[in-house]
Amino acid sequence: MGLLDRAIATTVPAIPKPLVRKVSSRYIAGRNLREAVRTVRQLNAEGSAATLDVLGEGVRDVSQAEETVREYKRALDLLATENLNSGVSVKLTALGLDLDQSQCRNNIKRILEYAAARDRFVRVDMEDSPYTERTIQTVLDLHADYGNTGAVVQAYMRRSVFDVERLAERKVSVRLCKGIYVEPRRVAYKNFDVVRENYVWLLEKLFRAGCYVGVATHDEYLVWHALRLVHDLGVPGSGYEFQMLLGLGVDEPLRKILVGAGHRMRVYVPYGEQWYEYSVRRLKENPKVATYVTRDVVAEMANYLRR
Ligand code: FDA
Repeated sequence: MGLLDRAIATTVPAIPKPLVRKVSSRYIAGRNLREAVRTVRQLNAEGSAATLDVLGEGVRDVSQAEETVREYKRALDLLATENLNSGVSVKLTALGLDLDQSQCRNNIKRILEYAAARDRFVRVDMEDSPYTERTIQTVLDLHADYGNTGAVVQAYMRRSVFDVERLAERKVSVRLCKGIYVEPRRVAYKNFDVVRENYVWLLEKLFRAGCYVGVATHDEYLVWHALRLVHDLGVPGSGYEFQMLLGLGVDEPLRKILVGAGHRMRVYVPYGEQWYEYSVRRLKENPKVATYVTRDVVAEMANYLRR
């Protein structure tokens, strides 16, 4: 990260909301389900599957969690009736993990049942470290009854090797990513190379255990290692998929190269009104997006003044 990028990253919370909103439109599929489904259709047409994420996390009351469940059901219905190649991704805090753990578990079960009846997969996203254990344990518990669910493991977490072993024992499907939250050094590796090496180590363990893996990264170094492992270990094409985020600045050419080479690809498609937290995380991680948008805004203002 360059100096300017780092400066932008630290000042992200101070960026005016209208600007964050403008930025968010670059990597959020839309404000509503119809818009998100349009994006899924386009992705399917170019050979990628999708996973829909209803934006919203850390809900403040049970009625909000209830509304999240309803929205996921609407999404699952539409994906099924339109015969689209897409599952959903869910955050447990959006289902009330902070409010009432047993109610949250009940909510995720309702989504899993609804999804299973429509032959859809539900990935449980991984949030920041206060939720790691509860999230992994929930997926492990539910997986016995609901084969249509899977976990996410973050390579920056020091504990992840143990989580991978627990998940591998039960052959749970795992999305492997680096991790996006700002964590203390006590729980997460801070060194870029160590995170990459840990990613490769965990990926090899998952492949060797025969788990289905979502290789979630835009880092070509990791993509290369994944391809090397697939080749050397003889992992079948049905045993893994690459996964990428939607949006500006994300490596679309790499996505197209992998799809063109016949690898499965899935794109994460977030939508909804609760765009702020997701946008701020993405901006902190990749301030270049803010730079592009600031340039657009300045250009728009200059055009306006010239008129
Ligand atoms: P890295 O950050 O090193 O980026 C490699 C290259 O891609 C760089 O050139 C960079 O500029 C570009 N790039 C990376 N991220 C970009 C972005 N957001 N926008 C534009 N360009 C970008 N995390 C988490 O904690 N819990 C989760 O559940 C998930 N879920 C998830 C699903 C999917 C499908 C993906 C792809 C990622 C996640 N993540 C996540 C986020 C993940 O942990 C990680 O923060 C990002 O993928 C960035 O890491 P990379 O491996 O891409 O490498």
